[in-house]
Amino acid sequence: MNKTLKFKNGKFTIMTLGDIHEHMITEKELEVMNDETKLKLRKRADMHRLVAKGISTFNPDLIVLLGDTLCEKDESEGFKVFREQLTDVLKPILDSGIPFCYVLGNHEHDNLQEEQIVEAYKQYETMIGVNDETAPRGNFNCNILVKNSEGTEDILNLWFIDSNNLCDDRELSMYDWVHQDQIEWYEKKSKKIADEHKRVIPAILFQHIPVYEENYVMREAKFYERPFAALGHHKFSDKYYMKKPGVKGYLGEGPCSPMYNAGQFESWKKMGDVKAAFFGHDHLNDFTGIVRNIILGQNKTSGFCCYTDGCRSLVRIITVNEENPWKIETSVHHFREFGLKPTCLGPIAGRITDRQSMACHAIGKFALIACGILGIAGIISLLF
Ligand SMILES: [Fe+2]
Ligand SMILES: [Fe+2]
Repeated sequence: MNKTLKFKNGKFTIMTLGDIHEHMITEKELEVMNDETKLKLRKRADMHRLVAKGISTFNPDLIVLLGDTLCEKDESEGFKVFREQLTDVLKPILDSGIPFCYVLGNHEHDNLQEEQIVEAYKQYETMIGVNDETAPRGNFNCNILVKNSEGTEDILNLWFIDSNNLCDDRELSMYDWVHQDQIEWYEKKSKKIADEHKRVIPAILFQHIPVYEENYVMREAKFYERPFAALGHHKFSDKYYMKKPGVKGYLGEGPCSPMYNAGQFESWKKMGDVKAAFFGHDHLNDFTGIVRNIILGQNKTSGFCCYTDGCRSLVRIITVNEENPWKIETSVHHFREFGLKPTCLGPIAGRITDRQSMACHAIGKFALIACGILGIAGIISLLF
């Protein structure tokens, strides 16, 4: 296939998918076909329907998987089960023939078979993100230039960065970050691209773990706002947060960024090319905020296998206009908004929204504490 990306009718459209976290479904499981296997199949079928609907509705020019897609171990000879399962998980994407790219999630690094995972992705003709061998660490690090509709000029650049796994020092940070050598690699390449084109080419960046600056889209919640606020992550886990004004979408959990800031965001500002960056990793967040003139966007899960909330799994659409490629528009589209009905969720989980689900949990906790206090007060009054 021709792997050159270009604008179509003045637009370039990207569909991103967040942490699908699919499970392997082995032949043995299919033979026995117990309730657990049936549920796995329904979850996969619902995810397929969401992805297929996103493709048929928006006809994207590129699909980007933001990591943590299929991360289970495979002991079979030749990594056979994983390869087959991956082909099944990606079915709507492969059937569409639309080019796709991949960034590794932390769970793909968790898996000791990372090299095989990389090889498995390389088997697909439409998978166009090939690791740049000059990148100092990780996999699938690369950039892809996108041409204008006539195919005569590069007018957009796409970065794909491996954000690694866990931090060795868990007190410092739970998650790892994009390291200094990777930042230097990016800066060198970014400069080379600008020099070759005699101007800075606007860029969109994709990676799994968000940058630290994502925390700047939030403010600390006031005490009375707590039932409607998101609990912070790691060193912020004793605080509750709300979105700042102007931040669109949903904040369901504190961004699980690294707690150490290695300066990746600053390097984007220094080079001036990255106009927007999109991340996976946070399974509940789908907000988009602007931090110092760079769009930071989250893609919550596009599947049904990890912690999530009802049928709010979604796809994100990113549209760039040829007239002004610095102008990037984005929107999210939930499973239910497409008019789809889930087969893997019960009647309650299939209907309630993220916020309702969280409010129910908060009310449940409050009711439990209140019952406990009343019970203790009752016992004390009986004793005295
Ligand atoms: Fe993750
Ligand atoms: Fe994940």
